[in-house]
Amino acid sequence: MIIVIDFGSQFNQLIARRVRENGVYCQVEPADISIKKIKDMNPVGIILSGGPSSIYEKDSPTIDKSLFDLGIPVLGICYGMQFMIHALGGTIKRADKREYGFAQLIVKEEKPLFTDMETKFQCWMSHGDSAKELPENFVVTASTENTEIAAIANHAKRFYGLQLHPEVEHSVNGSLMIKHFLFDVCGCEKNWSMKSFSHGAITQIKDAVGDKKVIMGLSGGVDSSVAATLIHKAIGNNLHCIFVDNGLLRQNEKENLEKSLTSKLDMNIKFVDAKEKFLNALKDITDPETKRKIIGKLFIEVFDAEAQKIEGAQFLGQGTLYPDIIESKSAFGGPTSIIKSHHNVGGLPEEMNLKLIEPLQLLFKDEVRKLGLDLGIDEDLIWRQPFPGPGLAIRIMGNITKDRLSVLRKADTILLEEIRAAGLYKKLWQSFAVLLPIKSVGVMGDKRTFANCIAIRAVTSNDAMTADWAKLPHDLLGKISNRIINEVDKINRVVFDITSKPPGTIEWE
Ligand code: XMP
Repeated sequence: MIIVIDFGSQFNQLIARRVRENGVYCQVEPADISIKKIKDMNPVGIILSGGPSSIYEKDSPTIDKSLFDLGIPVLGICYGMQFMIHALGGTIKRADKREYGFAQLIVKEEKPLFTDMETKFQCWMSHGDSAKELPENFVVTASTENTEIAAIANHAKRFYGLQLHPEVEHSVNGSLMIKHFLFDVCGCEKNWSMKSFSHGAITQIKDAVGDKKVIMGLSGGVDSSVAATLIHKAIGNNLHCIFVDNGLLRQNEKENLEKSLTSKLDMNIKFVDAKEKFLNALKDITDPETKRKIIGKLFIEVFDAEAQKIEGAQFLGQGTLYPDIIESKSAFGGPTSIIKSHHNVGGLPEEMNLKLIEPLQLLFKDEVRKLGLDLGIDEDLIWRQPFPGPGLAIRIMGNITKDRLSVLRKADTILLEEIRAAGLYKKLWQSFAVLLPIKSVGVMGDKRTFANCIAIRAVTSNDAMTADWAKLPHDLLGKISNRIINEVDKINRVVFDITSKPPGTIEWE
């Protein structure tokens, strides 16, 4: 196994994920982990992550220097490299020129990390400090225009450092550098898979829960379904699932979900009809965050009332993924600017006094899909595009009424039918219709119309943290537009959203 020491980088789970992609087991540990614990864990390699601090700052994260006496290979990334240099007697200085974004890496020593790569390629940098003097027995293995010491090695000790971020997609050859560290330096074996993950997760859940009960809200999406399946495999019918119909679902969604959830997942599921409650509470509410707060609060109330009926429950299962956590916490767990309130993943248990079980919290969406397939979950459910908790409420700009919900449902159904027919459903992260709060003039059958407008939103993404607008074929857009205007009453105009995230968000509210 490989240990990643967390120096506070937003990317440290991305490092872990790159290691897992290579079939090697990996665990992220905080920087205050004891050297004894590291020894007990018996890793074949250690990766020191990047971090937002400067090495000379008060309170910058550190780890006991005797880490470097263990005889275990170490790869330091960004701050991790600077920490290694500093700890072993070199010096770090504020860089004359900061380096953020792309840079050309010029390789000076190919082996081991840059094996089978060109001698010059693009990498992604993000640092204000730079190494000035190396500790004894270290050599420079790569440079960039602004950073002479961009990669280092002490071959005898098997210590390596990269000022660049190999874990981000924009660093060409980044994954390959990590691969060389794992196999050529550490001698790792490729013996870890999602199967081993589920095995470990099931054992952990069993140990944590024992013979107590777990309550869990199912949304019908892939995250909660996979999390519930894992928990169910661990504790069987001591898992009690609750599905709340908030009246903000898409066409036939509840029926389809009911069918696929109950036929595929043999679990205790209670379906609760709370449509009227939600629609009444949302009457005349137009502000997006107020909508979210009302929906979130009501969900807790309805869920809580159902949960009370399940005697002796002590745990709450959640399908939280890693990106949900990074968007809601800073590197050190402190408050950060909350982008949208739903990312505040801690809300439920505080009110309900239940302990959390979040078996997917270190995984990314594509890993969860792989896991779900391994667990035998229906493909349709696994490939379902994400659907937000507040549902259609945040896709109707302005007032939510039954009438407007019905208009949006019809348009959205057409859009999804055509996206599926074009074979694009799985390729898109999300594709949906948005009902705009404006009316515009049109002409239909020689008559002037003054009616509503639908926006088509379709994005590609890997994890929803960034997204690009999908380049849908023009004839497909034409067909969708035609069908919506012909088949949905009260719509006379369709527009296509060409905004990426950032600066936009995926949802319109
Ligand atoms: P944004 O709009 O923030 O969306 O770019 C990122 C991802 O999160 C989903 N989303 C939500 N999910 N409750 C949720 O459960 C919400 O309030 C919410 N808002 C956005 C969105 O669909 C996308 O997948």
